[in-house]
Amino acid sequence: MKIDYIRNIGVVGAGQMGSGIAEVAIQSGFQVVMMDTKPEFVEKGMARIAGDLERLVSKSRLDEQQKKERMEKISTTTLLDELEGMDFIIEASPENLSIKCEIFGKLDNLCRAETILASNTSSISITKIASFTQRTDRVIGMHFFNPPPVMKLIELIRGLNTSDGTFEITRELCIKMGKTPLSANDYPGFVSSRLIFSLMNEAIYALYEGVGTPEDIDSIMKLGANHPMGPLELADYVGLDTVLSVMKVLQEGLGDPKYRPCPLLIKYVDAGYLGRKTGRGFYSYETSKKQ
Ligand code: 3HC
Repeated sequence: MKIDYIRNIGVVGAGQMGSGIAEVAIQSGFQVVMMDTKPEFVEKGMARIAGDLERLVSKSRLDEQQKKERMEKISTTTLLDELEGMDFIIEASPENLSIKCEIFGKLDNLCRAETILASNTSSISITKIASFTQRTDRVIGMHFFNPPPVMKLIELIRGLNTSDGTFEITRELCIKMGKTPLSANDYPGFVSSRLIFSLMNEAIYALYEGVGTPEDIDSIMKLGANHPMGPLELADYVGLDTVLSVMKVLQEGLGDPKYRPCPLLIKYVDAGYLGRKTGRGFYSYETSKKQ
């Protein structure tokens, strides 16, 4: 089977990753149906995409007509059933095994036999997610990075039973989306999250133990390691609930105490301080600017 058969892509989840992935897909010429559970979630996702395209218009990288054509390529729904006819599906729901398994089980019943089901999970076993379907050969990890329209990498993860054909089509799809696919084996957190989230968690420990202020910790990593964002700023950007979920997967899956989530991270998540999306994390965000 060749990549050309993929004309439309279903995206499950309209949050920062889902809407970003949908934006990448329409920018690459695909028809997209973006699904989330509530109308306000899909509206927010659509507003984010429209805002991004508007920014491209203001930079003269798109004209108004192209923006209109791109926006016409995307429709939304709150019903998973409406993804039935999709050629390829990318799931970008919260980092929670039971949510993902339920979605994959339903999609497996709904979709044509040849449809590939990809998960944007940051850390959860693809083999495990695939086990909730009857098509374990057509399930794959397709891990985008935030913000998806900007970040070049897609980490591709094969489950134990993912076929060569599924891998090859997904790899070609990444290239068609203008991304660089690199593969990692199916172990907790793969390569990227094992390293990136461990750094964020360690930075939270440094804050918790009084080694530095948030500003000091972030500035040291920006100026000393040339990171575009400091680890605490990045944790706020990714979402502290996601950071905690990934650390729990690393801790449980690898069994090494070095992956235990910092108590301060747990406390912040309990308090609803989830980072940018709630206006408060290690920094405060009024009007989405860091303070
Ligand atoms: N959507 C689309 N485009 C965006 C964007 C967004 N949300 N945010 C920034 N951009 C674009 C800007 O329009 C600008 O485009 P241009 O250069 O073509 O004009 C470009 O990105 C640079 O933006 P800015 O000048 O506003 O700001 P920065 O130079 O500070 O870059 C950044 C912003 C790209 C987010 C940069 O800070 C960065 O690379 N941060 C680190 C991101 C990172 O590490 N991501 C991975 C996190 S881990 C993850 O995602 C895993 C997952 O499983 C959770």
